[in-house]
Amino acid sequence: MSKVATIKIDGKTYDLPMVVGTEKEVALDITQLRGQSGAITLDPGYKNTGACESAITFLDGEEGILRYRGYSIEELAEKADFLEVAYLLIFGELPTQTQLQKFNTDILDQSIVNEDMKTVLKGFPQTAHPMGVLSSLTSALTAFNPKSVNVDSEEDMYRAIVKILAKFPVLAAWTLRKKNDQVLYNKDTNIGYVESLLKMMFQDDNPKKSYRQNKVVVNALDKLLILHADHEQNCSTSTVRIVGSSHAGLFASISAGVSALWGPLHGGANQAVIEMLEEIKADGGDTSKFIAKAKDKDDPFRLMGFGHRVYKNFDPRARIIKKAADEVLGQLGVDDPILEIAKGLEKTALEDPYFVDRKLYPNVDFYSGIIYRAMGIPTEMFTVMFAVGRLPGWIAQWREMRLRKEPIGRPRQIYIGETKRSFKEIEKR
Ligand code: CMC
Repeated sequence: MSKVATIKIDGKTYDLPMVVGTEKEVALDITQLRGQSGAITLDPGYKNTGACESAITFLDGEEGILRYRGYSIEELAEKADFLEVAYLLIFGELPTQTQLQKFNTDILDQSIVNEDMKTVLKGFPQTAHPMGVLSSLTSALTAFNPKSVNVDSEEDMYRAIVKILAKFPVLAAWTLRKKNDQVLYNKDTNIGYVESLLKMMFQDDNPKKSYRQNKVVVNALDKLLILHADHEQNCSTSTVRIVGSSHAGLFASISAGVSALWGPLHGGANQAVIEMLEEIKADGGDTSKFIAKAKDKDDPFRLMGFGHRVYKNFDPRARIIKKAADEVLGQLGVDDPILEIAKGLEKTALEDPYFVDRKLYPNVDFYSGIIYRAMGIPTEMFTVMFAVGRLPGWIAQWREMRLRKEPIGRPRQIYIGETKRSFKEIEKR
């Protein structure tokens, strides 16, 4: 028998159906509550609100569990490659060899970016932040692909999906080339998805100069992209779903997701962490001083890369990345003093009652920037890398939302402004 919860408002009781997920997560279905009682639920920041039912990613913040389509993040990071994980997230199952080959070929077929996009890019000042440029270029893609997606056609959906998967890394690489005032390349279709992204970013302006790929860097980036590929209903993913819920197209929805990811409380934290560690280093390396600042409620400083809305024990992605940081820096022969500062900061924070009581642990962004830096990726590009990683998750969530024919996202509010009053002529005010 299905469960029911009962609530009482002004002496009247209402039965609310309960929804139980496959991992026994429980929710009260309040969709009929307003119609029956006039009351809405209030939850700023959606801290306790389920916006949808989803079969893509499972996350248990207390236990530090993260699974894509049932597969643990630890196993996927170790055994899968990024394109396989993208397929898994979007279509629900791991691909066979044939399916993966077709997926890859279809992406490669769509990888040339329209030459006119270079004109759009040219209009930006060189000082523009790559995330702002990426969001605009993604939005501009809509102009070159005007046909909106017919979500009743699997074929149409598939075409839009491979198109954005193909062009997005090109645009991501171009945001770096623009910063450096360099020649813009399209994808090298003879190498893998992640390899070609690195090549488009770092190849010499003279195309005849051979580009040597570093396997350590390719593998490390592949792993980082997998770790960032989805994270259920976070800020940018919810943005993608809500924009798409108005039946705006896939590219427009992804562009909005890029903007949401940019903020320092979300994906922008990876850049903010490195800037914070640099600041600590420049200040003499005294981590306790910065811990004290983070605890001071009158000081706006926060320990970037620490804390998470859902992880209250540890972030499984952070564990994998911390280990990878040691390995990658070792393999690349990089000795970065800020890695030691980061470890010192983590140790001090994890012993401090302020952080312990509030269950604040290092998140995915605490060590990822150190790896990006060792790879030679400039700080302003870190969040762009996160966006490339998160792309399959955004696509999967958008596709699921449209296939489930979810209604337009439109929250309610409690109005706390002035009640009705009369307009006064300006001279009488
Ligand atoms: N440094 C110092 N204090 C903190 C921090 C921090 N990084 N994070 C949270 N707190 C405190 C906060 O002041 C509050 O204290 P009190 O209860 O005394 O008012 C308490 O911990 C709860 O914090 P909150 O802001 O209510 O929690 P939230 O769930 O709204 O915010 C967060 C989560 C990730 C935005 C926040 O922890 C934060 O700002 N962290 C730093 C930015 C960061 O690293 N973001 C990346 C998140 S992971 C990547 C991604 O998926 O986006």
